[in-house]
Amino acid sequence: MTSAHAKAAGELLAFYLDAGVDAVVGETPVDRLAAGAAEERSPAASPAAAPSPRAAEGDGAPRPAAAANPMRAPQRAPRPSTGASSDDGGPPLFPARPAADLAPPEEAVMAAREAARQAQTLDELAAILARFEGCALKATATRLVFADGNPAGRVMFVGEAPGADEDREGLPFVGRSGKLLDRMMEAIGLDRRSAYIANIIPWRPPGNRTPTPLESQICLPFILRQIELAGPDILVCLGAPATQALIGVKDGIMRTRGRWFSYAAGAREIRAIATLHPAYLLRQPLAKRLAWRDFLAIRAALAEADASAGGARG
Ligand code: URA
Repeated sequence: MTSAHAKAAGELLAFYLDAGVDAVVGETPVDRLAAGAAEERSPAASPAAAPSPRAAEGDGAPRPAAAANPMRAPQRAPRPSTGASSDDGGPPLFPARPAADLAPPEEAVMAAREAARQAQTLDELAAILARFEGCALKATATRLVFADGNPAGRVMFVGEAPGADEDREGLPFVGRSGKLLDRMMEAIGLDRRSAYIANIIPWRPPGNRTPTPLESQICLPFILRQIELAGPDILVCLGAPATQALIGVKDGIMRTRGRWFSYAAGAREIRAIATLHPAYLLRQPLAKRLAWRDFLAIRAALAEADASAGGARG
């Protein structure tokens, strides 16, 4: 390869990265738009008759037929290949639809609220989310990233959205920032058997872009219900987006971190604290001492609650 070719290849890869293409999943490109057009012309291969793309990926989530689905995503993008689905040139994953067929954003938000309200258990909530079609992020994510850890744990950590590792494994905080979170939890006597972990957004935004305000709004009812159903004693918001979404403070994370707030988890008032996101700490290791103070405050709050429970018993 000449140096001009190498330079052009480098530029092309940089372009792909900027566009959110960050995984190699096949040798040959698949034109899903062309396949979609072919399918639209053939009623026998209509989306209602086609197998669910997600079910084909093995997450077990039945996808309702497009016409019967009240929770349709407000926008539908053609789905890029993720590696988990078949690349056999089979039926299109997301055939283009007429604009009139798309639900307006406020309908998706209403549908999310209604769907989240229906869940009586965390398992039900996960199943409802797996069927929910109101958030466009589902179309580009490989799988739903619902939660990890112990839902009966006293502490619940909430981050922003899954990244590539989480998207691959279907579990939150399993990449580099997750490893750091594990170490931080361990330092105060917690781990994934004793704490519960989730995100505001349960699907990876393509290329790890920031979720749009609409995507956050659509996903918010689900995480609120998840916190309510898990019922932790302490809620830890990891980073500014989770803090703003859950605690509603507008101050920056540097002013908000380390402060305790009261959080209404359904009918229960629990304690909530904001701290720095582990991904930020990886970029700014000097800030770890601030996060360490926050984690010590969490440990002290747990000990305090133990002491007063012991006092009440004795
Ligand atoms: N960052 C998050 O906010 N959540 C994850 O699950 C992983 C990285």
